[in-house]
Order: sequence, then C-alpha cells, then structure tokens
Amino acid sequence: MDRRPGLSVRVKLTLSYAGFLLLAGALLLAVVWVFLLRYVPEGYQLLIPGGPSNKNSAFPPNRSALLRAFAPAAAATLAFLLVFGLAGGWILAGRMLAPLTRITHATRLASAGALSQRIRLPGRTDEFRELADAFDMMLARLEAHVAEQQRFAANASHELRTPLATSKALLDVARTDPGHDTGELIDRLRAVNTRAIGLTEALLLLSRANRRSFPREDVDLSLIAEEATETLLPLAEKHGVTIETSGDVAPTVGSHALLLQLTTNLVHNAIVHNLPEDGTVHVSTGVHSTAVVLTVENTGEKLTPELASTLTEPFQRGTERVHADHAGVGLGLAIVKTIAHAHDGTLTLTPRSTGGLRITVELPGAAPHTGR
Ligand SMILES: Nc1ncnc2c1ncn2[C@@H]1O[C@H](COP(=O)(O)OP(=O)(O)O)[C@@H](O)[C@H]1O
Ligand SMILES: [Mg+2]
Repeated sequence: MDRRPGLSVRVKLTLSYAGFLLLAGALLLAVVWVFLLRYVPEGYQLLIPGGPSNKNSAFPPNRSALLRAFAPAAAATLAFLLVFGLAGGWILAGRMLAPLTRITHATRLASAGALSQRIRLPGRTDEFRELADAFDMMLARLEAHVAEQQRFAANASHELRTPLATSKALLDVARTDPGHDTGELIDRLRAVNTRAIGLTEALLLLSRANRRSFPREDVDLSLIAEEATETLLPLAEKHGVTIETSGDVAPTVGSHALLLQLTTNLVHNAIVHNLPEDGTVHVSTGVHSTAVVLTVENTGEKLTPELASTLTEPFQRGTERVHADHAGVGLGLAIVKTIAHAHDGTLTLTPRSTGGLRITVELPGAAPHTGR
C-alpha cells in the first residue's frame, strides 16, 4: 500500500513561498531597472560614487556603468530574498501544517481502534478546525454506534440463553424426579421453545429491516392497518379492549410484509400494555402534505416522557411486570423503529396526559394511482 515517498507538503510550500518571493523581487528589480533607464537619458554621464567613469565614449558606457553598479546590488537582493523566502517559508509552513499533524495522529489512533480520543483542536474556526471538529463528531458517532452494537449483542445473547437455561432446568427436574407429569413438562417446554423461536424470528426481522434489502411496492397504509386490527381482534377481546379505526387512504411505497409487521407490533402493544379492563385503542391513518401518517393511541398507565423515549431501545421493557404472561421479548418497538427508518420514515412516542401512549409513524407519501 505504501506509495513512493514524495516531497513533503512542508517542502513544497516552502519552495512555493521562496519561488514567489524571488519572482516578485525579480519583477520589482526589473521595473526599477526600466525606470532607471528612462531617467538616465542616452549620452548622459552618470556619476556613480566610486563607479567607473568612462569619459571617452558617451554611449554605451553610461548604461553599462549603470548596469555594473546595479547588477551586484540586484543579485544581493535576490540572494537575500531567496534565503529569507526559504527560511520564512519553512517556518510558516510548519506552523500552518501543525494541526494536520495532530489530525493525522488522531486518525492513526482511531484506525487502530481507539475511538474514545478526540482531537479538540484549539483556536478559532478555520478549515483545519472544521476538519478536526467534523472528525471529532464522526468519532463520537462511531463510538456510540459501536457501544450500541455491543450492548445489543450482549442483550441478545442473554435473552437467547434464558429459554435454553429454562429448558435445561425443566429437563434436569424431570430426570431427577421420574414420577414427574410428562404432559406438563412437554407443555412447558413447548411454551419456552415457542418463545425462543419468537425471539429468534424478531432478531432475524430486525436484521432484515436493518439491511434495507426488501422489495418495495405501492401500498396503502389504511388497508394494512385494517388487516392488522382484524387479525388482533381476538386478542383485544381477550384483554377487554375495544379497537376503533378511522382514517383515509394513505398511499406509500414500501414492503407490505414489513409495514404489516410494524402496524401489528404497534396495535399488539396497544392491546397488551393497556388498562386491565375497559381499555381502548384508536388506530388512524391520514395524509399530511407530503407524508402519510399512522397513529396508534391507547389508554393505559401514565408514562413519563423520559421512560417513553427509552422504549424503542432493543430489549427495553417499560413496566416491572416483565414476566407477566403477555410479556414480549422487548423487541417490538425496536423493530417498528427500524422498519420506519428503513422506509425513510420517523417514529414518535408521546405519553398521553390521561395515561397510555400515542405513537405516530410518518412515512414519505406516494401519489395514488401512479405507476413507478
Ligand atoms: N402502546 C403502549 N402503551 C404503553 N406502553 C407501551 C406501549 N407500547 C410499548 N409500551 C412499553 O414499551 C415496552 C417495549 O415495547 P416492545 O418493544 O414492544 O416490547 P414488549 O412489548 O415485548 O415488551 C413495553 O414493555 C411497554 O412497557
Ligand atoms: Mg411488544
């Protein structure tokens, strides 16, 4: 990967400084020379102190005398400018490039995996400062992203281990106690297994939505909302929750399967995280200028805005009744958020003042009846 070493930027800048200084000096001397010639008319005997005075020939000796007096001074000036330009350029270039050294150093550290360091370039805003600040911002985001991934992997492993450990415990008990009810054991093992499959499927869905590699088609969010609520009606009845739907046609472009999953997760949550009895869920769709909007609102316990803002994190469950029978795996809202983002949309959670949540998904709208 190593390229052949070239001149360093410091040397190049130094040479340019010195070159320009020399060129400017030479131009100035040329102008001076031309003016001198104009004010020293031909035939005029120039008196140069200490200079050669050739009285025998009026021309060209006058001008050559002038040249002889001028040339050494000009040469000395140019030599001085060269030395001055090289030295000054070297120092100036060094000072100008100092921030770059710091940035390079930080980049090397970052590429070796040190994401917690920052450049924190001091001084006023200039191009280098902007570069350093942008680099610091990138490091901060990378660091947060890596930390999030690590947390996710740790949580996922933990969640996947739980059903396996439970199965093992059940099997151990059955082995040490031969008179154990086999039917009950099978039922419990099956329940644990189902939960593990659900979790794995949720993880797969999450990674699929994350990769954004799904076919897109014209879909109507209001039809999807209808489909999702219809499927969940029996569950709502079981929880004593009434579902109201309303809204207009909401055309957008996306994956039907994923958007159905998004809506189902939201309505499912709205049913199971509702009041113990007489809860309501309101599902509505609509078009807001260029966006289509799906809103799912439900009654329930009062939530603080701080808590609401954490609910979309993977494996985050809001209430303490984590192991109630309807307890999900804690990936429902994470999946909703990922699907919404994969469709270039947004997810907003707002606690309702009377309790429960109002969840809004905004997706880019598509004009109805237009082929792509
Ligand atoms: N519609 C809702 N109303 C009240 N709380 C909710 C609602 N949706 C989600 N929550 C809270 O957010 C948490 C995370 O939801 P989710 O990611 O779907 O995980 P899960 O439903 O598996 O617990 C839930 O445990 C619940 O406390
Ligand atoms: Mg859920």
